[in-house]
Amino acid sequence: MPTKIEKDAATGTDTTGHEWDGIKELNTPLPKWWLYTFYACIVWGVIYTVLFPSWPTLSSHFGGTSGYSQRADVAADLAAQKAGQADLREKIVAMDIDSIRKDPALMGYVQAAGRVAFADNCAGCHGAGGAGAVGFPVLADDDWIWGGKPDQILQTITYGIRNANENSRISDMPRFGADQLLTKEQISDVTDYVLSLSGTAGDVAVLERGAVVFAENCAACHGEKGEGVQDMGGPRLSDGIWLYGGDRKSVVDTITNARRGNMPAWIERLDPATVKVLATYVHALGGGQ
Ligand code: HEC
Ligand code: HEC
Repeated sequence: MPTKIEKDAATGTDTTGHEWDGIKELNTPLPKWWLYTFYACIVWGVIYTVLFPSWPTLSSHFGGTSGYSQRADVAADLAAQKAGQADLREKIVAMDIDSIRKDPALMGYVQAAGRVAFADNCAGCHGAGGAGAVGFPVLADDDWIWGGKPDQILQTITYGIRNANENSRISDMPRFGADQLLTKEQISDVTDYVLSLSGTAGDVAVLERGAVVFAENCAACHGEKGEGVQDMGGPRLSDGIWLYGGDRKSVVDTITNARRGNMPAWIERLDPATVKVLATYVHALGGGQ
């Protein structure tokens, strides 16, 4: 192949001398500005890999001569955030829930940290967002077994319910059927009476008998009209909200065997700040009083 450099007549550009089947290659080099930018990038690249963490080695990597590390940056950021949080958490432990609720900065933290702690520790029993499940009360409504005031909620969460902690909330409904405290007929009558409290119609004579059984055996824990007694942990029976089911069979079962659900004392598992955050969070779920 002949290498004859000549000018292309049509464009006035030099050819490279390469020619295939009469077609000649024009020599159109890259613009100078492009070329120098390209060289500058190579130089920059070399300097960069010397200064900053770059080349992999067998067991690790070349760390760069500048000593810079994004990992160290992140660690410093995290430490700073933790220090900021430690401040908030100290305040939360020292303050009562009513005062925490009036402080927007603390409440912002309570909402964020509370959501995470609730999902980690509570949602397994109480459902996402405190929606509740059979045997595990809804925490997002204003129906409270043990009370919905800030201090009552804090007490419930801190020491739990029916556990070994000496401050645990304790109240055991008697097992009226299993321990033969009431006859089957009495249980049947009082079941109809209990159901009538939330509006279910029943036979007048049966309800009258049931009312007597209720007044003698149940009112101390559930209130004279079934309105609930928080100190006794006796749920309200007149609101149509059921922890263990409101169909006839479930109610008979509750009265016959009792249920005695338990909850751990969270102060034995979580730090005081987290417990306080959770109490404030639960109070703010919607039903706090
Ligand atoms: C192992 C299951 C379980 C877990 C986990 C659990 N709870 Fe409970 N919780 C219960 C039961 C059961 C009750 C109701 C007991 C009763 O009174 O019969 C209850 C009751 C409560 C009450 C009282 C509700 C009322 O109406 O008075 C609050 C408040 C509460 N839980 C908050 C929490 C928080 C906050 C967490 C997470 C730190 C949590 N619970 C985790 C089982 C659980
Ligand atoms: C010593 C207190 C106490 C007495 C007395 C008592 N209860 Fe209860 N009752 C409770 C507690 C506490 C619960 C919560 C469930 C549990 O943990 O057993 C409860 C739950 C119930 C429930 C289930 C409520 C729901 O939401 O699912 C029904 C129904 C009920 N009681 C009916 C009765 C009737 C009827 C009597 C009388 C024959 C009675 N109770 C006597 C303490 C008591």
